[in-house]
Amino acid sequence: MDGPIVLGLETSCDETSAAVLRGEEILGHIILSQDEHQVYGGVVPEIAARAHIRVVDDVVNGALKQAGITLEEVDVFGVTAGPGLIGALLVGVAWAKAAAYGLGRPLLGVHHMEAHLFAASLEDPDATPPFVALLVSGGHTLLLWVPEWGRYELLGATRDDAAGEAFDKVAKILGLGYPGGPEIERVAPAGRTDAFAFPRPMVSGGQKPGDDDYFDVSFSGLKTAVLNQVRELEPDGLEGRVPDLAASFQAAVVETLVTKTMRAVTATGCRRVLVGGGVAASRALRSALRQALGPDGVLLHPSARLATDNGAMIARTALFRHLRGEAAPLTLTARADLPFPGLER
Ligand code: KG4
Ligand code: ZN
Repeated sequence: MDGPIVLGLETSCDETSAAVLRGEEILGHIILSQDEHQVYGGVVPEIAARAHIRVVDDVVNGALKQAGITLEEVDVFGVTAGPGLIGALLVGVAWAKAAAYGLGRPLLGVHHMEAHLFAASLEDPDATPPFVALLVSGGHTLLLWVPEWGRYELLGATRDDAAGEAFDKVAKILGLGYPGGPEIERVAPAGRTDAFAFPRPMVSGGQKPGDDDYFDVSFSGLKTAVLNQVRELEPDGLEGRVPDLAASFQAAVVETLVTKTMRAVTATGCRRVLVGGGVAASRALRSALRQALGPDGVLLHPSARLATDNGAMIARTALFRHLRGEAAPLTLTARADLPFPGLER
């Protein structure tokens, strides 16, 4: 496949990742996950920033080596400019600015959540709009209507915790490791999904189209319900109940997300759904979405490797914006709260 050579760099959280694309084809891709955070049960921002500084050169060089090219052969640089941890973001942005300036190449600042929309299209050429998008990551939960690339209508979002954050916090409550999603997925199959009746917030309250909680989600009450249940069980020991707790919690999150997504399917009349972000790696979520969509629906999703944070989705989004004639000035800076480009409410 033809097209410019794009280097994408991602350092918004706890993955340092670089990818080299020629057009939409991945030539080289390195994803280095920081395991320093495991002992703290969550990402420590200062540690993340320092770890990115330590490895960013090696990660980029690794991706270039896999691609069989030198840095000078890169045509376009793309970097996550936000949202994310500011110290972590700055490492990638400073690196990409220096490279783009030094080589006189265009630079694109990429929105991390827009990039999660593009991840699936790297593996599946049909994963293009129109679709309803459920973006579920560690920091964000967004339900979007995407008629075409670059045009995004916000249908719903979380009122408090992101879906991935809920997995991470509940895993910590259950004494499981970080990140919590894969840990809960690992232990849940041994448990019963109906062992505990955890709440499905804003699902069963009789919401109607037009109500502002019709598409929104909320996970903080669910997390508290798990915490209260754990406190109640604790005197007798939690050990044997962890699979039941994990399975019941996971089922509550999945049912909530599927209900909201199907409301969006009905409202838009579009039976194509794209799920992206780290929680899209959840097999329970994907199979429930597939079942709800039925045989005439289409579920688009990235593989687990491209669902979680990676440089390839950043490079792919940079390519899209570059081909639209956009470029960032060298005054580009990272923003923890970068607004989603092209998002309408
Ligand atoms: O998109 P991502 O890699 O980083 C952010 O942009 O935040 O998402 C990370 C999140 C974490 O909260 C992690 O627990 C969750 O994705 N996650 C999962 C699974 N794999 C990762 N959640 C549920 N089930 C999984 N299999
Ligand atoms: Zn992400």
